[in-house]
Amino acid sequence: MKKKILITGGAGFIGSHVVRRFVTKYSDYDIFNLDSLTYAGNLENLKDIEAYPNYHFIKADITDEATINKLFEEHQFTDVLHLAAESHVDRSITDPLAFAKTNILGTMILLNAFKNLWSERWDGHRFYHISTDEVYGTLGETGLFTETTSYDPNSPYSASKASSDHFVRAYGETYGMPYVITNCSNNYGPNHFPEKLIPLCINNILTGKPLPIYGNGKYTRDWLYVIDHAIAIDLVFHKGENHETYNIGGFNEWQNIDLVRELCKQMDSKLGKDEGSSEKLITFVKDRPGHDLRYAIDASKINQELGWAPSVTFEEGLSNTIDWYLNNEDWLQEVTSGNYQNYYQNQYKGE
Ligand code: NAD
Ligand code: DAU
Repeated sequence: MKKKILITGGAGFIGSHVVRRFVTKYSDYDIFNLDSLTYAGNLENLKDIEAYPNYHFIKADITDEATINKLFEEHQFTDVLHLAAESHVDRSITDPLAFAKTNILGTMILLNAFKNLWSERWDGHRFYHISTDEVYGTLGETGLFTETTSYDPNSPYSASKASSDHFVRAYGETYGMPYVITNCSNNYGPNHFPEKLIPLCINNILTGKPLPIYGNGKYTRDWLYVIDHAIAIDLVFHKGENHETYNIGGFNEWQNIDLVRELCKQMDSKLGKDEGSSEKLITFVKDRPGHDLRYAIDASKINQELGWAPSVTFEEGLSNTIDWYLNNEDWLQEVTSGNYQNYYQNQYKGE
């Protein structure tokens, strides 16, 4: 049977890299990118591949049950790669219900539509749920998240993702639905919306605005270049075991303050500014409520079972990322006009 793969959230940051990889690498698959184009979705991210004959875009909302059911009946999607989500922790603190709606209800509507289509005929079909390491809560100064770490989410975002992971598993156990889940660490790279730490700081350096560091800046994240995440998703989709979870991480922990200093250093050098000039923009601001101290992934399962490892070093990845933003200032200006200004003022009031 010809594969007709539904990729949700394909106009977003990670989704666009996944869609590009599948469309260009697998000309025998039909790829349907379903996205409601929220503030985070941007079809400019896929301009280079939109004319490929195996690429199809559908503007729809995963919480619209009638439309989703109709689309599954009409297109008979053989597989689902589910990335659509509300993804920003700070927004989940101001509007938790939006996160419950898209991340929990939207996931359930997709699961149900997939079950209604293939139940009892599961062979050769798969629901792949893309999730986050934030479901595990926070680490102390040592230790790593493994696939058996208990779920302990702390933000409305991570609680909604944890809930969606549980529903995916429940559909596997209850209805025999073949599924796979990956829980990945912080991504960075081209097309990252400038509400997240790295692109926000790149944009603020370019516009001479303060670089807001929450709390004491000692919070730690494990950063992975987005294209390496897309490569891992391709591998897990084709080679992963059904009913399994794989953790994906960068083996690359940074405290926020050190990361931002490194970014300032690279930006100064690329912009021909005096060393130390961007660092002067660093400003410590009010902490994020419920801020998780540290995330770090043990990615040995995907490494040993599927042979995946990051392909670029952090230095290379960060340099590519900065170059992308410097070469795509129109993209940055477009996404930071309009509603972004209201978001920024509310989020960083008084800073
Ligand atoms: P993003 O916010 O950049 O993109 C999300 C996309 O989903 C957007 O295109 C948006 O328009 C679409 N979308 C949102 N609500 C929708 C709805 N109701 N119906 C249809 N489309 C909708 O997010 P991202 O950073 O690319 O993350 C993608 C996925 O990967 C998410 O599920 C996220 O939880 C997960 N994840 C992200 C990271 C990260 O570091 N960014 C790390 C691990 C896992
Ligand atoms: O770990 C995976 C997760 O990584 C994904 O599931 C989320 O979708 C993604 O947004 C990301 O979550 P974080 O909250 O870790 O990413 P963010 O870029 O928002 O923040 C990274 C760190 O930087 C975090 O400790 C908070 C801090 N921070 C963030 C912003 C936006 C600041 O100090 N200042 C800021 O202005």
